[in-house]
Amino acid sequence: MSDKAVLTLEGKQYEYDIHTGSEGERCIDITNLRKETGYITMDEGFGNTGSCYSDITFVDGAKGILKYRGYPIEDIAENATFVETAYLILYGELPTADQLRSFSGALKEHAPLHTNLKHHFSGLPSDAPPMAILSAMLNMVSCFHPDILEVHTSGKGFDKSAALLLSKVRTIAAWVFRMAAGKAFNDPNPNLSYCANFLHMMFSDPYQEYIPSPVIEKALNLFLVLHADHEQNCSTSTVRVVGSSRANLFSSVSAGVCALWGPLHGGANTAVIQMLEEIQASGRPVTDYINMAKAKNNTFRLMGFGHRVYKNFDPRSIILKKAVDDVLQELNMQDPLLDIARELEEKTLADSYFKERNLYPNVDFYSGILLRAIGIPLNMYTVMFAIGRMPGWIANWRELHDHKQRISRPRQIFTGSNTRSYIPLEKRT
Ligand code: SDX
Repeated sequence: MSDKAVLTLEGKQYEYDIHTGSEGERCIDITNLRKETGYITMDEGFGNTGSCYSDITFVDGAKGILKYRGYPIEDIAENATFVETAYLILYGELPTADQLRSFSGALKEHAPLHTNLKHHFSGLPSDAPPMAILSAMLNMVSCFHPDILEVHTSGKGFDKSAALLLSKVRTIAAWVFRMAAGKAFNDPNPNLSYCANFLHMMFSDPYQEYIPSPVIEKALNLFLVLHADHEQNCSTSTVRVVGSSRANLFSSVSAGVCALWGPLHGGANTAVIQMLEEIQASGRPVTDYINMAKAKNNTFRLMGFGHRVYKNFDPRSIILKKAVDDVLQELNMQDPLLDIARELEEKTLADSYFKERNLYPNVDFYSGILLRAIGIPLNMYTVMFAIGRMPGWIANWRELHDHKQRISRPRQIFTGSNTRSYIPLEKRT
C-alpha cells in the first residue's frame, strides 16, 4: 500500500506522507499543505480530521470496538475497578498491588476540600446548575494549591495533580448535591473505597451513615469505568485545546466540564431520561416519537441514539443495558422507563431511517436508568459523566505535553464583507 498521497492542484502535483497507526488506521499528513499550496482543508465538526496521535484509547466505530491502552472495554468492565482503570488510563499499565495501594492512598489523602472552598458553596442558589458549579470549583481548587498550578506532566507534580483532581471532583460533586438538597456536607471517609466514599458523601445523614449495597457500589464502579475515556470526543478535545496553550490542568479540565455539559455530548444522559419521562407522561406510542425524530422539518432527536464514530453498536451501551437488567433484578426494582427504552431500541433497529444512518443506542441511552437505580438525582447525571471522564481528560492533557504538541489554532475561510471605508456616524442611515 502506498505511503504517499498525491494531490493535484492547478496542474501541479504535491505528495504527502501517509502514516499508519498501530491498529491500522491511516492518515494523510498535511502539516505542510498551506505552506506548499496556499490551500487549507475544510472539515466542519472535524469528522475526517485527526488532531493528534494517541496511545490512550482506541475506538473502531465500524466494529463497535473500544479499548483502553489495548485492553478491550468488556475485559476492563468485567474485572477492573474505576481506580484501577483510572491508573491504567493515566500511566499506561494496570497497577501492581503496590502501585494500586499507593494510588489509592493518594486519592484518600486528597479527598477533603479546603475549608474556605465550603464558603463558595454557601453563596450559590440551591437551583444553580451542578455542571456550572463543578466547572467553577475545579478551577477554584487550584487557588488552594499554587504548587501544582505549574504545568507538571511527570513525576510527583503530575501524580499529585492527577490524584487531587480525581479525588476532589468526587467530593465537589457530592457537595453540589448536598447544597442543592439543603443538607449538611459529609466529609470524605478514608476507610471507604472510591465509589463507597462518594455515595457516603452523597447520601449519609448525621444520624445514619449510608452504606451502599455491593450491587450499588459495583454499578457505580461500572458506570465510571465505562465513561473513563473515549478518544478525541468534544470535551477531551476541549481539554487538549485549552492545555495546548500550556494552561494548567485545572483550567483545562474545567473547560472540559463545560463542553461535556451540552445535550449533544455528556448532557445527553439527562436528555434521554427527560425524553423517556415525556413519552411515559404523554401516553403516546413510541412510534410517534420515532416519526418525529425522522421528520426533516422537526428538530426533535432521539436522545441517546447516534454517534460520530460508532456506526455499529456502542459497546458501552450493550454492557450498560445488561447491567441495568442485573441491578434492577438484584434490587428487586422495576423501572417503567426501561420498558420504554427497550421498545424504542427494538423499533429503531428495525427502521430503515436509523439503519441507513447507522444510528444505534450510545453510552447515554441506558446509563441514566442505571443512575436512577443507584439513586442519583437527574440533575447530577452529567456530573457523574464528568467524574468518570476525569482520567481520560488528565491523560490526554499530559499526552499533548509529552508529544510537545503545538498550540491549537485552526484556520478558517473568510466569507464576510470585503474591504470597505469607515462611515462617519452622521452619515449612517
Ligand atoms: C457522547 O464523541 C464521543 O465519543 C462522545 C461520547 C463520549 O464517550 O465522549 O461517546 C459521549 O456524547 C455520545 C453522544 C450523545 N449524544 C446524543 O445522544 C444526542 C443525540 N445524538 C445526535 O445528536 C448525534 O447522533 C450526535 C451528536 C451524537 C452525532 O452527530 P453527528 O455525527 O454530527 O451526526 P449528524 O448530526 O450529522 O447526523 C447524521 C444523520 C442526520 O440525518 P440526515 O441529515 O443524514 O438526514 O443522522 C441523523 C441526523 O438528522 N441523526 C439523528 C440522530 N442522530 C443523528 N436522527 C434522529 N435522532 C438522532 N439521535
